[in-house]
Amino acid sequence: MFKFFRKNELVEKNDKQELKKIPTHVAIIMDGNGRWAKKRNMPRIKGHYEGMQTVKKITKYASKLGVEYLTLYAFSTENWARPKEEVSYLMDLPEKMFSSFMPELMENNVKVEVIGVVEKLPENTRKAVNDAIENTKNNTGLKLIFALNYGSKDEMLRAIKQITKDVQDNKYSIDEISEEHVSQNLFTSNTPDPDLLIRTSGEQRISNFLLWQIAYSEFLFTKVAWPDFTEEEFYKALLEYQSRDRRFGGLNED
Ligand code: FPP
Repeated sequence: MFKFFRKNELVEKNDKQELKKIPTHVAIIMDGNGRWAKKRNMPRIKGHYEGMQTVKKITKYASKLGVEYLTLYAFSTENWARPKEEVSYLMDLPEKMFSSFMPELMENNVKVEVIGVVEKLPENTRKAVNDAIENTKNNTGLKLIFALNYGSKDEMLRAIKQITKDVQDNKYSIDEISEEHVSQNLFTSNTPDPDLLIRTSGEQRISNFLLWQIAYSEFLFTKVAWPDFTEEEFYKALLEYQSRDRRFGGLNED
């Protein structure tokens, strides 16, 4: 089915291990750019530049595999605490990326979306992101979702405030508040919860990412730094995912 893999050495070596179950939604914490650069005596921003190249590579590959949603943690609400020069470089990345990547996004029918507080981003970042959303709005393939100025606690706080307001406005009562109301008031209201969450570069934590949405996601932690993360690593992550027994708190029949 996936001729693309047939060319892949990994598949030739493990021919029986074919991908049969593709996760609908993969979320990635793209960690390790800074350490990758430091190890090579380069400035941290070089790591972010290489990280951007990985974003392009993995987006195209995920799209070819038939993943429907790819959410990438690009900038958290906590990342503002980094040195000014680094924040400024990260804020310029969307413009850099979309100016070179747009033709391939169109070719691959990829639709760009964003979660997070976009209004608080600098003007040029906001424009680059909004233009990419606008240019790709009619694409029907992979949804490429950038988490930008995103924090899960902030997102949930906003939902709580909105739900409280709805109750005050008599839209529904306190007793009627449901999980659905919470989900519908998150940035991810139009997106199914992630099936697989990948974090690169060895850390095993969630760092304020999609806390509500990952209730039943499978987690995969790899030591590979994001700039070194390849199609083969992504493929291996998907192989691992399909070997997991997802029970969602219930039981699976043998
Ligand atoms: C974490 O590595 C990475 C980030 C905070 C930024 C992620 C950004 C990209 C991968 C570039 C692409 C983004 C866009 C919007 C096009 P780190 O700096 O925390 O690494 P460290 O833990 O080794 O210091």
